[in-house]
Amino acid sequence: MSTELSVVLVHRNDIERTQLRSALESLPGVQIAGERSDLRAGMALAHQVEPSILLLELAGGGDEALQAASQYRLQHPDVVLFLSTDQFNPETLVRAMHAGAQEVLRRPLDREALSAAVERVAAFAARKHGGGTSRSVITVFSNKGGVGVSTLATNLAVSIRRQSGREVALADFDYQSGDVASMLGLAPARTIGDVLSAARIDSASVQDVMLKHASGVSVLSQPEQIERVDGVMGHQVGSVLEILGATYEVVVVDAPHLINDIALEIFDRSSIILVVAELSLPSVRAARRSLDIFHKLNFMTMQDRVRLVLNRASEHSAISRAQIEETLGMRVFCSIANDYAAVSQAINLGRPLCVDSPKSRAGRDLDGLARELIPVENATWQEEEAAPRRPRLRLFGKG
Ligand SMILES: Nc1ncnc2c1ncn2[C@@H]1O[C@H](COP(=O)(O)OP(=O)(O)O)[C@@H](O)[C@H]1O
Ligand SMILES: [Mg+2]
Repeated sequence: MSTELSVVLVHRNDIERTQLRSALESLPGVQIAGERSDLRAGMALAHQVEPSILLLELAGGGDEALQAASQYRLQHPDVVLFLSTDQFNPETLVRAMHAGAQEVLRRPLDREALSAAVERVAAFAARKHGGGTSRSVITVFSNKGGVGVSTLATNLAVSIRRQSGREVALADFDYQSGDVASMLGLAPARTIGDVLSAARIDSASVQDVMLKHASGVSVLSQPEQIERVDGVMGHQVGSVLEILGATYEVVVVDAPHLINDIALEIFDRSSIILVVAELSLPSVRAARRSLDIFHKLNFMTMQDRVRLVLNRASEHSAISRAQIEETLGMRVFCSIANDYAAVSQAINLGRPLCVDSPKSRAGRDLDGLARELIPVENATWQEEEAAPRRPRLRLFGKG
């Protein structure tokens, strides 16, 4: 752990506070910036030293501590909040999440859970400061459906995995359609629905539902029934994505087709946002609207964070690539050929293009896009694929 993590500890009980302190001090890279038994004094100390982690005990009903935590986070949005409670029930967890807690720790102290929680923070901090391998969250997005977002996300994940050998996760956050599993021929027994209904969202509950595709990509699927993710909230999706980003070298996201709080949580955590458009007027108009919003949200200030990908590109379309670039005031980062036969066969068979028809025009373009995004230094071309199955048509992903 190279990044130093400072902690302010606020806990009324002297014995427990001492236990927490010694558990934290035994972790590499952690230093205690101060501890207090009183909430008010603890918050004053936190304002003064601005720790990386603020650990608060939820005393009594926890209202006071939660309110103090929410207020503190408004002024110090980068702080990581740990809450410790003996009321380890769904209601407390939801309230803790609303206050912006990253971890809720059980009382009495579970040293292993604490150490795992600190490790997650350290991994995230190292990533933020450019340490370790460069990690990326690549979000594929269009505010208009049917332009190929799921096709691109799915194939991109598999292609990056095959060409670079990196640890890749593919997260289906398009809760309306949930096409990823089917496009990969997976029948998911466990899905993001299970993470959201688990007692807490942590790396164990997320790992529990990841499915391994034959390519080696770990897949987070949507459930078959939309009711299972009804009422899902932005910050929950944010927590899941945060965990994926800290766990995998590359995360590819199939994003929902609208800009709501869920999408904003996703964008906030994305190193690259690929805006997908087709060479059609409605699609260009839709792309223009998203780019306007990205401008307003200041996403365009970071160079190359938002990139334009043209799907179903063809020389025969009424609008040219140059026209689209002029209209959107943005260069096309990459284009994927219009290749209906290969793409629709891949979708219907539930097998990614770069597995089944890597030489197809779209397959080649998608491999090229993957290389542009994740430069392959030493391509390992991992072959985790089982002996090729005879492709057969399936309905509804039960292949
Ligand atoms: N490069 C392509 N060439 C031809 N057809 C494509 C291409 N990409 C996607 N499609 C078609 O477009 C349709 C929508 O794709 P999909 O990935 O489900 O879009 P979205 O996720 O944006 O709704 C699919 O039926 C697919 O066959
Ligand atoms: Mg889709």
